Amino acid sequence: MKKITTVILFLFIGTTYMIAHVADSVYLFSYVNPHNNGKNGLNLAWSSDQSSWQIIGNGYSFLKSDFGTWGAEKRMLTPYLLQDETGKWHCLFSMNEKVNAFADATSDDLFHWLPQDYHYVAEGSCLNPSVTYNAQQRKYTIYYQNNSGNFAVETADFKSFGTPRATNALKSDNPRVTMELPIGKVEGQLFKVSKGFVEYLRNCVDAALYRNSLNSETMASNAERFSRLKPLEATLTIQPEKAKSISNTLIGIFFEDINYSADGGLYAELIQNRDFEYNNKDRGEWNAKTAWELTGDAVWEIKEESPIHPNNAHYSVITTQKPGASLTNIGFDGINIRKGEKYDFSIFTKQLDGKGSLLIKLVNPANEIIAQAKIRCNKNWQKQSVVLNAKKSCDNARLVLTPQKKGSLAIDMVSLFPQNTFKNRKNGMRADLAQTLADLHPKFVRFPGGCVAHGNGLDNIYRWKNTIGKLESRKTTFNLWGYHQTMGLGYYEYFQFCEDIGAEPLPVLAAGVPCQNSSRGGYGQQDGIPMEEMDEYIQDILDLIEWANGSVNSTWGKKRAEAGHPEPFNLKYIGIGNEDLITKVFEERFEMIYKAIQKKYPEITVIGTVGPFYEGADYEEGWDFATRLGVPMVDEHYYVAPGWMVNHQNYYDQYNRKGPKVYLGEYAAHLPGRPNNVETALTEALYLASVERNADVVAMTSYAPLLAKEKHTQWNPDLIYFTNTEVKPTVGYYTQQMYGQNSGDFYLPSVLKLRNNDAQVNKQVAVSVVRDSKTNDLIVKMVNLLPVTVSTKLELPEEYSQITKTLLTGKPEDKKAHSTTEAVTLEDNTYVMPAYSFTVLRMKK
Ligand code: AHR
Repeated sequence: MKKITTVILFLFIGTTYMIAHVADSVYLFSYVNPHNNGKNGLNLAWSSDQSSWQIIGNGYSFLKSDFGTWGAEKRMLTPYLLQDETGKWHCLFSMNEKVNAFADATSDDLFHWLPQDYHYVAEGSCLNPSVTYNAQQRKYTIYYQNNSGNFAVETADFKSFGTPRATNALKSDNPRVTMELPIGKVEGQLFKVSKGFVEYLRNCVDAALYRNSLNSETMASNAERFSRLKPLEATLTIQPEKAKSISNTLIGIFFEDINYSADGGLYAELIQNRDFEYNNKDRGEWNAKTAWELTGDAVWEIKEESPIHPNNAHYSVITTQKPGASLTNIGFDGINIRKGEKYDFSIFTKQLDGKGSLLIKLVNPANEIIAQAKIRCNKNWQKQSVVLNAKKSCDNARLVLTPQKKGSLAIDMVSLFPQNTFKNRKNGMRADLAQTLADLHPKFVRFPGGCVAHGNGLDNIYRWKNTIGKLESRKTTFNLWGYHQTMGLGYYEYFQFCEDIGAEPLPVLAAGVPCQNSSRGGYGQQDGIPMEEMDEYIQDILDLIEWANGSVNSTWGKKRAEAGHPEPFNLKYIGIGNEDLITKVFEERFEMIYKAIQKKYPEITVIGTVGPFYEGADYEEGWDFATRLGVPMVDEHYYVAPGWMVNHQNYYDQYNRKGPKVYLGEYAAHLPGRPNNVETALTEALYLASVERNADVVAMTSYAPLLAKEKHTQWNPDLIYFTNTEVKPTVGYYTQQMYGQNSGDFYLPSVLKLRNNDAQVNKQVAVSVVRDSKTNDLIVKMVNLLPVTVSTKLELPEEYSQITKTLLTGKPEDKKAHSTTEAVTLEDNTYVMPAYSFTVLRMKK
C-alpha cells in the first residue's frame, strides 16, 4: 500500500558499488549469528578498519527466512548477498540442511525486502550458495554444494534457471571471510559502502526500534507515566455538516474451527468420534476407537468392508458370545445432559448374523440411567432414530450401547443431539453459544478459517463440497490445529446460521495454495494446486456461488433446495486466500480464480489477502498485486501489542480511498501472557474508534479467534471461552458487542479537546460519533485508557431526550469486567468518562 522507498534513496543505494573507493567509504559485513541456528536471519555490522566492528541494531534482523513451518523451522543459513546489474540487492540463502532449493529475497536498500522466492534447482540439498557474474554474457552462476558434490547453475534474471552441472570448485565474486565481531568469530561477506549508506541503515533500525519501544508500552507503566496526572476536562464538538457515509458491515465475526470451536463446541453433536474416522493424522495417538471404550466380554473390531458410504470408510463391529458387553462413548469431556430435555439419538446398524437389538443408555458416573431406549437391528445397514428423554441432569454423562443378542453387530454414525439447538435446527448449533454470537449483532460471519481454510498441505485444503449433503457422505479430515473435523458443521449449516442471525455469509476459500506454514507434503508451503487441476478447483468455487445463489433448477442450486433451502442465500462476498505468502505461485492461482469469478459473477465482492502482518514483504506486494488486479477488497491480519494500537490510530487515515477496500479480518491486542482483560479490551475499543473513523475505506472487521473450549486451546486470547456447560464471554467480547450493537452508517467527525497538551496523554483518549439512519440515533463512543477521569462537555448538534449509556470499565488486569447499560441524563451535557473505560452513549431525539 505504502511504498516507503524514495527515488532519491534508490539512486543513492543503487550506487553502493560505485562509491566503493571514495574516501568516506566504510566496511559492511553481512552474516547470520552462529549462536542461534539461523533463526534471527540476516545481521549487519560495520567498521572503518575491518578490526573494530559495530553490530547494527544490536543484532537487528534485516531479513528473516519465511520458509518452513512456524518457529524453529524458519532458518537462514549461509546468506550470500550481491547487488545485481540493476543495483538491486539479492540475498540468497539455504533454508535448512535438507531442502533442494535456495531462497532469494530482493531489496533496494537492505532494509525493505520483497517476498522471498524459493528456487528448487538442486537434486539434493542446496548449501552454501555463492555467485559469480559474467558481465559480457550478462549471466549469473550460482554455486552450491551437497552430499553429492559441488554444483553450478546459470540464470540471467533469478527467475529461470538452467540445468545444474557438477563442478569442482565453489566460485564466488565475493567469497565469505571470517571477521572478529563483538559476538566472536563469524563468517560472512564484506562490502565497501558509503558512510551515508550505513548511516541510512542505522537510522532505519533506530526508527524501527523506537517504534518497537512505543509498541511495547503497556498500562503496567501507567502509575509511573501518569503519576502527576489529575482528572481531566475536555470538550467534544461534533461536526454534523462533515458527516460521511461509512460501511454498514463494519463489525462481524470470524469463525474458525480452532480450540475445538466446531466439533465439541458450536456444533451441538454430543458424541465424539461418532463415525470411527479418527486417525493418527488428526493426532498421533488417535485411532478409530478413540473416545470409545469396550466393557465386558466381546471382540471389538474396526472394519472397512461395505461401509455406509465410501467417504466414511470405518465402522465398529462388536462380537459377543452372550449379551452384556457394551461400547461406551465418553463425549467431548463428557456429555452434558439436562433433565426434562429431549435428545435425538441416531445410529446406523447392521446385524451381521441376522436380527438383533441394541439397548441405548445415557448414564451418569454412578452408572445410574438418565435415559434409555431400544432399537431393532437388521442384516442390512439401516439408519434409525429415537428420542431420549432425560430423567436427570448430568454434566458428565456417557452413552452406552449394549447389543442384546449374541453375535456380531456393526455400528456407525452414532449421534446424539439436544433437540434444543439454536433455532431448533436439526444437526444444529449449541443454543447458548450460538446465542452469545448472535448477541454481538455481527453484520457478517467469515468461515471456516483462517488456516483451516487453506489447510496444512494440498490434500488438507478445505473443500466446501466435502461438507454438504448427508452427514455420512461428508468427507472428514484432520484439523491442522491438532484434532478432527467431522464436517457436520458444514457449508449449509454455516449459511443457515448466517441467515438465522441476519449476518452476511463470508466464506473463505484457499487461493489454490495451502497454509504457508504447512508441515506436510515436504515443506508444504506454496505448494500450489497443480496447474492442470486448477480448472477443476476454480469450477468448485464457481459452483459454490451457484449453490448459494442459483435457482432451484441449476445443478448446485438444486442441491441447496434439496437440503431444505430453496430460496437463495444471497451470497455477496467471497474470500480467496488467507494470509498467504504473496509469491508467484500464489499470484498465478489467485489471478485465475479472481478473473473466473469476476467473469461469471461480477456482482460478487472478492476479498483478497495481503499477508499476516500490517507491514512487510507480503503486505507490500499483496497490496500492489491486489491494486494492479483491481481486487475490490483485501483481508488484513495483525495480532499486535496494545501499544501498537495506541500508537497507530492514524493507520488507516492515509489509506488510498480509490484502491481496494479493507477487511480487517483478524486482529487482537496481545499482551505478554496473552490475557484477555480490561487493558486489551479497552485498547481494542480505542483502535476501533480510529477504524470507525475510516469506515469509508475499512468495510469490515472481525476479532480473532472467536471461540475456545477451555482445556483445548491452541491459541490465546480468544473472544469467548466455554466448557460443556458454560459460556464465558471475555472482556473483549463486550467491546465487540458495544460496537456491534451500536453501529451506524454515517460518521460525524468530532473534535475532542483535552485541557492537557501532552501527546502521551492525548493518544489515550478517543471518541467516535456515528449516526444510525434507521433509527436516527446519535451514537457517541468514548474510550479512556487513562488512570483518571475525563469530564467531557458534549457540544451536541441537536437536543436529545433519551440517552442510554453502556459502560465497560475495570482495572487494567481485570478479566471479569462486563458492560452494563442504563438510561441516563447528562447534566449540562457533560459526561465523565471513568478512568479505564469505554462508554457508548446512544441518544434519541
Ligand atoms: O486466528 C488464528 C489464526 O491466525 C488463523 O487461523 C490464521 O489466519 C492466523 O494465523
